[in-house]
Amino acid sequence: MILVTGGLGFIGSHASVSLLNAGYDVLIVDDLSNSSIDVLDRIEAIAGRRPLFEQMSLLDETRLADIFQRHHPSAVMHFAAFKAVAESIQTPLAYYNNNIGGTLALLSRMQIAGVRSFVFSSSATVYGSPATLPIKENFPRSATNPYGRSKLIVEDILTDLVASDPSWRIANLRYFNPVGAHESGLLGEQPRGTPNNLMPYLLQVAAGQRARLDVFGSDYPTKDGSCVRDFIHVVDLAEGHVAAIRYLKEHVGMTSFNLGVGRGISVLELCEAFERSTGQSLPRQVAGRRAGDVAECWADADKASAELGWQATRGVEVMCQDAWRWQCYLDRREDSRETSGEPAK
Ligand code: UFG
Repeated sequence: MILVTGGLGFIGSHASVSLLNAGYDVLIVDDLSNSSIDVLDRIEAIAGRRPLFEQMSLLDETRLADIFQRHHPSAVMHFAAFKAVAESIQTPLAYYNNNIGGTLALLSRMQIAGVRSFVFSSSATVYGSPATLPIKENFPRSATNPYGRSKLIVEDILTDLVASDPSWRIANLRYFNPVGAHESGLLGEQPRGTPNNLMPYLLQVAAGQRARLDVFGSDYPTKDGSCVRDFIHVVDLAEGHVAAIRYLKEHVGMTSFNLGVGRGISVLELCEAFERSTGQSLPRQVAGRRAGDVAECWADADKASAELGWQATRGVEVMCQDAWRWQCYLDRREDSRETSGEPAK
């Protein structure tokens, strides 16, 4: 039994499907602060098995203790966290409380219960503005906002924990830019309010819900002036987590892995790939730079390939097509709700 925190969120839901497909039993814990309960039905529809589910915050220590006692998980995958950079600058205490406090509560309970295998959702944000590319796992780390700092601090806590007790098995996974959706079109990213990230915003523009996409910056020292990122299909990312769970069976200590494709795609290239692969038009305009963006960020994915035996296989066209299928599903669902008079969730 794998305990998946935040298992109804964008990445956690895909990881839950990959775990179920690989034969693991899954217990999802999620407080529904940025997800909805019907994701559970869709995970079941895809995987053919329903994960166990508990709606709760990790900060509820009594319930957390009860869950470990009743279910005896063998490992924990920890996705539950807030993740919006701008919001983290407005409400740093909420970010530190949830992202660090939640992780501390979880690790403390694991220690008491004797559960020592932990997969952590970190982020390429910990590399700050890299001096050279591609980014290797041993590059210096820094943070420029509370969200990034919360990831950095948890990484440091994990390092200290392993130093205190070498029987811990920790895979620290640093995600690059997860996009795409499950190929069924039933799972994907569903941000509340105006999306901050490129792909969800782009999808709403293509769907006609927003007038146009602002491409933030055209004067970066990159191939076409727009920022370059390592966009990775969320199902590839999810499969990386299954590889990490298998890796932890054989390895003690803490190891950090970049989960990226290992290739940089510019914002403009992604827009063009989206139009080409979906046939949808994407109205867009060049806008000023967004504060805090780094010009280029892509992974050296060799360590994950060599040690996890995992690499991303889905290309940018598949990322766009799957994401668009998901957007169409959301739109159909919204239409049928409007017709039936049911409130939107
Ligand atoms: N962008 C636009 N228009 C938009 C939204 C984004 O041009 O409407 C651009 C951004 O300026 C950036 C690129 O698209 O150049 C990607 O932006 P995202 O917000 O999608 O992603 P980021 O690279 O800023 O951040 C992501 C995650 C963070 C994580 C970081 C790690 O959202 O959580 O990658 O590098 F920390």
